[in-house]
Amino acid sequence: MEKVVLAFSSGLDTSVCIKLLQEKYNLEVITACVDVGQPENEVERSATVAHEIGVSKHYTVDAKQEFAENFIFKAIKANAVYEGYPLSTALARPLIAMKIVEIAQNEGAVAISHGCTGKGNDQFRFESTIRSSSDNQIIAPVRDLNLTRSEEIEYAKKHNIPLPVFSNYSIDENLWGRSIEGDILEDPMVEMPEEAFNWTKSSTDAPDEPLKLEIEFKEGVPVALDGKKLDPVEMIKECNRIAGSHGIGRIDIMEDRIIGLKSRENYETPGAVLIITAHKALEQIVFTRDELKFTANVSQTYSELIYNGLWHEPLREDLDCLIDHMQKRVFGIVRVRLHKGNLRIIGRKSPFSLYQEQAVSFEDKETDQREIVGMIKNYGIQAACYQNICKKE
Ligand code: ARG
Repeated sequence: MEKVVLAFSSGLDTSVCIKLLQEKYNLEVITACVDVGQPENEVERSATVAHEIGVSKHYTVDAKQEFAENFIFKAIKANAVYEGYPLSTALARPLIAMKIVEIAQNEGAVAISHGCTGKGNDQFRFESTIRSSSDNQIIAPVRDLNLTRSEEIEYAKKHNIPLPVFSNYSIDENLWGRSIEGDILEDPMVEMPEEAFNWTKSSTDAPDEPLKLEIEFKEGVPVALDGKKLDPVEMIKECNRIAGSHGIGRIDIMEDRIIGLKSRENYETPGAVLIITAHKALEQIVFTRDELKFTANVSQTYSELIYNGLWHEPLREDLDCLIDHMQKRVFGIVRVRLHKGNLRIIGRKSPFSLYQEQAVSFEDKETDQREIVGMIKNYGIQAACYQNICKKE
């Protein structure tokens, strides 16, 4: 029998896929769960469930460190945010797909499979990555058979497929954030119920005492919190924990999907909000006006590439070269204040700072104020000409 490698999470879609691949496609199924920081019990459950349903082999791949260093840190340097969404799910997809391709190649599999439906973004992200690194056939059983969620549940029951303890929502979680969608949240007027949040306190439950925190950046990425050095994975986890406990990082947006559908999305991304806000604050003191203006465009394009599943597009690599060069100067410390859902920058310093405290000071006597008069005389000269012409007409 020919082999297929399925990206497996033990959720409804991928659990149903195992059986479908065996029954309808007549393939030997190998599953792989790529750990990008989803809840530990989900990773463990994947191994158990895969064997229960009857796969020939199951892999668990710990990709947390790679995810943090090669994906999240790049996103931080680029301030990557799409329509208000820090791209947590989107960023993990290419890495998951790359790991699956690797396994498929080692196993000599003919096909690679994923559990995406035909409506979302993830099918684009998975398939563009797979195609850029392998010739394997791609099978998406849920999409192929045009299954609805209730049809999947029915199929699962019929085949004794163990289902996860159901949340009514579709939830995706990794190191960089938690996405919650579906069910009652499909109505944009329905408020996200408090119990659906897991990473963030509500502002009312957050501590009354504000917290001051210092984040140290080196070449554009966070390296220490209040002077304590942390490795990338620990840094992100710690930022999620601290910012979440102060009610930072709840995001409720209408998002434009790749295929153009609008969808209502809720996110909890406390660490991402904290780190990116602080990172931007540091860039403000280090970059010139022209650089700042330009990086806003870079950031927009970079974010769209990630969202649209085009991680392997050469432009992303080109932009990384530019970003890395610029980020060489993004060194320093940003002091923030967290309090009941509010995040404020209260201090920043950098050895590469372009800020001239002396020159900008109201007390400065060294620069003769009168020297500016010559420049100011012609400032806005075109506007003045225009207004004069209008008056005459
Ligand atoms: N809309 C987001 C994205 O496309 C998140 C999707 C997350 N999936 C989920 N099942 N909640 O990246």
